[in-house]
Formats: sequence, structure tokens, C-alpha cells
Amino acid sequence: MTEETKPNGTQFDGKEEFVKDVFTEIASYYDEMNELMSIGMIKGWHNFMMRKAGDLRSKKCMDIGTGTGEIAFLLAENAGEGGEVYGVDITPKMLEFAELKMKERGLPKPVTFEVGDALALRFEDCSFDVVTSGYMLRNVTDVQKAIDEMYRVLRPGGRAVVAELSKPDDRFVRYFYEMHMKHRVARLGRKYDGGMTIDGKYSAYEWLTSSVEGFPRGEEMTKKFLKAGFDEAQYFVKTFGAVNIYLGIKK
Ligand SMILES: C[S@@+](CC[C@H](N)C(=O)[O-])C[C@H]1O[C@@H](n2cnc3c(N)ncnc32)[C@H](O)[C@@H]1O
Repeated sequence: MTEETKPNGTQFDGKEEFVKDVFTEIASYYDEMNELMSIGMIKGWHNFMMRKAGDLRSKKCMDIGTGTGEIAFLLAENAGEGGEVYGVDITPKMLEFAELKMKERGLPKPVTFEVGDALALRFEDCSFDVVTSGYMLRNVTDVQKAIDEMYRVLRPGGRAVVAELSKPDDRFVRYFYEMHMKHRVARLGRKYDGGMTIDGKYSAYEWLTSSVEGFPRGEEMTKKFLKAGFDEAQYFVKTFGAVNIYLGIKK
């Protein structure tokens, strides 16, 4: 597909199917690529998310867009035997890998992984203490609706902790960021996905890099948390702006 006929922007016709097809395609090497692309930073981002989630002991938690389950496993470790953790994702293949990995984790209590849509969660209002989500929002067809759903399922006092890729503001740092994304990540991506376009749109890792462009970040995103009803919304810039972590508190 030529540049002119590629989808323009982060929302386009057929996005939900495209996203499912992307993650079905890359599920088997998703974790390995994450580690390489984040230059090993991803664990630190996830530990920071746990700190922002507060005391998780015996809490009911859900990781939305859980993928291969890394954030859900951390929730389960922190929630302990008295906790209850769900991992929801729209792509069954990603959950298959989460289930496989869970067998080797020795968690205090298993995570319940299930197929579900972040835009229409099957759970009741006010039924969770904590929801998390890592790098899913760029992939949904309605970002505000996904945040509205997080708010809906949280109990008063509940927290939403969301990580999303971003772009550094500082011009000097941005130069190195662009080099990393355009060269290292693009090269690694081609090595893994073979540059094959999915549904005639982007190749898997082309989507990853292009979906960051123009995606709401920082204050623009915290406004969406406030619009959903959260009483407090903050964001934390990690790794010079490559990732933002959002915290929404429902009082
Ligand atoms: C970039 S991956 C992130 C996976 C995981 N959170 C992590 O930290 O590695 C995005 C995930 O969001 C899932 N996803 C996309 N749209 C979704 C939706 N509407 N509902 C639930 N999951 C969705 C994808 O299937 C994919 O597994």
C-alpha cells in the first residue's frame, strides 16, 4: 500500500478488525519486541504503575487490554491470595500466551483471563478497586468511551492507572527518540513482522510507531479522565516523555 492510501490518523474504518489482526499476528513475539523496543525500561514503567495503584492487598483489580498479561501478573502478585484479578483483551491469541505464561509464574492466585471489549465491559458499575491498562488506548476506536468504562466499573475511592506511549517535548531528546523509533524500532519491526501489511493497511510495527503520532497525551488526555467523571487526574512523564502514565481517582 502506498503512503497516499494508508489510513490517516489514529482512527479509521476497519480499525477494530485491523487491531485484532495485528495482535494475532505478533502475539508470539510481542513480549520479546517490547523488551527490545523499550530498551528494557518496560518493567520500571509497570512497577511505577503498581506504586500509583496504591495498596493492592486483597483488592479486586482488572487489567484492560491485558495482552500477554504482564501487568495483570503484577496486580495478582500485589493483590495476594485475598485479591481477585481479571485480565481482559479483545484478541484471543494474546490471551493464549497470557495463559501459557501464567503456568510458570507461581502467582498467589490465578488471574482470570477473558475475551472482552474495553468499550463495553461486561462488569457491573462500581465493582472494582483498581483498573490498569498498558498501551491499549491508541488501539481502541473510541478513547473517551474506554476511559468512561474504566470510571464506570470503579468503586468510589477506586483508581485507574494507564500507561501510553508518548513523544518527548524537548527537541534535543526528541531527536534521539525519532532516531530510535524510525531506525531501531522500524528495523526490528521489519525483522519480526517481515514488513507484511495487515488488512492492506500498515505492517504491525509500522502501526505501533505511526499510532503514536497525533495521539492525545499529557493534559489533553487527563481532560478525558476528568470528562469521564474522575475527580482527580494526573500524568507522570517517564523516560524523557517516551511514555506517560495517567492516574485517575474516583472519589
Ligand atoms: C500494545 S498491546 C498491550 C498489551 C499489554 N497491556 C502490555 O502491557 O503489554 C494492546 C492490547 O490491547 C488490546 N485491545 C485493543 N483494543 C481493545 C479493546 N477494544 N478491548 C480490549 N482490548 C483491546 C489488543 O488486543 C492488545 O492485546
